[in-house]
Amino acid sequence: MDRNFYISSPDGRVHVIFMLKNGVPYYAVRYSDKDILAASKLGFIFKEGAPLNQNLFIASSKYDSFDQTWTQPWGEVKEIRNQYNELRIDLEEAAAAHRKMTIVFRVYNDGLGFRYELPKQEHISDFEIMDEETEFSLTGDHTAWWIPAYQKERYEYLYHKTPLSSIAKSFHAVHTPLTMKATNGVYLSIHEANLKDYSSMALMPLHSNKLKADLFPWSDGVKVKGSTPFQTPWRTIQIAENPGDFITNYLILNLNEPNQLGDVSWIKPGKYIGIWWGMHLGKYTWGSGPKHGATTENAKRYIDFAAKYGIPMVLFEGWNQGWDGDWGEHGEQFKFTIPYEDFDIQEVASYAAKKGVKIIGHHETSSAIKNYEEQMEAAFAFYKKLGIHAVKTGYVGHDPAIKRYDAQGNVIGLEWHHGQYMVNHYRKVVETAARYQIMLDVHEPIKDTGERRTYPNMMTREGARGQEYNAWSQEGGNPPEHTTILPYTRMLAGPFDYTPGIVDLLFEEYGPKNRVKSTLAKELALYVVLYSPLQMLADLPENYEKNLPALQFLLDVPVDWQDTKVLNGEIGEYITIVRKDRNSDDWYLGSITNENGRMFDISFSFLDPYKKYVAEIYADGVGADWVYHPLSLAIDRVLVDHNTILQLRLANGGGQAMRIRPAYEHEVNLASQFPS
Ligand code: NOJ
Repeated sequence: MDRNFYISSPDGRVHVIFMLKNGVPYYAVRYSDKDILAASKLGFIFKEGAPLNQNLFIASSKYDSFDQTWTQPWGEVKEIRNQYNELRIDLEEAAAAHRKMTIVFRVYNDGLGFRYELPKQEHISDFEIMDEETEFSLTGDHTAWWIPAYQKERYEYLYHKTPLSSIAKSFHAVHTPLTMKATNGVYLSIHEANLKDYSSMALMPLHSNKLKADLFPWSDGVKVKGSTPFQTPWRTIQIAENPGDFITNYLILNLNEPNQLGDVSWIKPGKYIGIWWGMHLGKYTWGSGPKHGATTENAKRYIDFAAKYGIPMVLFEGWNQGWDGDWGEHGEQFKFTIPYEDFDIQEVASYAAKKGVKIIGHHETSSAIKNYEEQMEAAFAFYKKLGIHAVKTGYVGHDPAIKRYDAQGNVIGLEWHHGQYMVNHYRKVVETAARYQIMLDVHEPIKDTGERRTYPNMMTREGARGQEYNAWSQEGGNPPEHTTILPYTRMLAGPFDYTPGIVDLLFEEYGPKNRVKSTLAKELALYVVLYSPLQMLADLPENYEKNLPALQFLLDVPVDWQDTKVLNGEIGEYITIVRKDRNSDDWYLGSITNENGRMFDISFSFLDPYKKYVAEIYADGVGADWVYHPLSLAIDRVLVDHNTILQLRLANGGGQAMRIRPAYEHEVNLASQFPS
């Protein structure tokens, strides 16, 4: 017998239908009067036993609803409302083993999440999943922005924009978040939440606009190894009428468990500089030798610079033994508690403490997981003893080449960065770091699925093509449109350590063939657009010293926000975001464009109606253009209030940044003498 269950979002606009047709489970989604997903299959194929996707009946079902507001310890917004309606469907096999499976739907005003649960039961205890059958039957050949999965460089690719049907011509599957503009005009993004003890989900295009969950396999072909009771990550579908609405959609965070760390007052978001860009430019080396970057002397120079300008943190890469030779291939050489001889870490740590600067430590593992896990406790303990509360980790290595060993030390498989083995490793690191009160910035990470709600020490990560590609990429770095795609794709997963803020955009001295394809104003605007609670001032100190007016914005802009609003945007074209500082009455604006210059009229109606503000404007200057005149920056101050409408002019490949602070009385008085 067929049975349907209906559940809607609290505002009644998102509708999910669960259907059991001849014992086979399906779901479908509608938004207002538009079909989002047609009937889409659910279920699993196990190594042992029949597939769990047929011959089922509904043992019970339950509706529920939830509405609570929680406070982020740090983030792009302070308060988040978690409001949803829930439907649980308990399924049972009609014959033989009578295996049980529950499917839970949570429906929000801006999308939905659903997951599978396998309760403790007689006929499934330890299991191996060979395939997750989840389908997303889209209702048209939507335009999609995507990066391919199963590639050497993990997530570090430029986005393609094509109809869904084109993906299969060249690639087996794509990564999530997968953002689409549907043929009916609605915007959709598919991702997952709370990816834990499971393999990460890519999406495989099938016929008729269908996508299917495609789990990264272990080296033995199994997708997921587990035992009951078991829960999968949430499969999420975010729905938006305007692409900007994705950016203020907090469904993925809401689908993660609340903070498990208790008191997190030791977690402090902030900005940092580092011995870093110099390596990417070839000025310094990570390894020992005449150009070694992380020397005691150079570290002190960076600390002095940070202290002088009030930058709270400094990162040192290449401080520990193991970088000499081909470090990318020999991660097993890394020693996480033994510094190079020319880096006196005790001396550097006490110098930093004296100057009031915090150190960000660095663990590059080159994906030698066994080596890292053997040293991990000692490595975090070592840093904690030195007063270091933040660590950047790294997992350089082409996929799938992560060696997995048996107890005797023999290699038994080469794993992906995105399979269950690594998902578990990354989480183990977050939990271990938390025990040592250490915040994390993970490069070559597993994608973000909102873990920061549960572990607020999981601050930021890479997981996309970042700034570093501009320093050395043979294909010429990131085109201007890249940063106008990221806010609607990669950034929907969570914070990104893009490392913006290069002010010497041409760095002719080091890499005449490369450059940052941006204007200076756009580089500043990225601090507002690309959210990261650990946000780097990526350039060399000497370049900032030569560019103090631009540096001023980078010193002012905060990393922790009370509120975020998206004022306009089109994927791959432009975006304008305003954010309110969590610790003052200041607002900040960041507006960026792709290769095309454009003008916007921006209303300041987001401001407090009873206050006057001064907008400190960092705009593309006369003749600015990312190709011909990238450094032209015009700095201006204007008195504004909530009635103001300002015209923003963005150059080709340009942008605009603004600090909007309450005006001093004398500024208001002065302005009233010169009415405009
Ligand atoms: C790649 C990371 O993205 C980069 O930030 C880091 O400097 C190098 N690996 C070395 O760890």
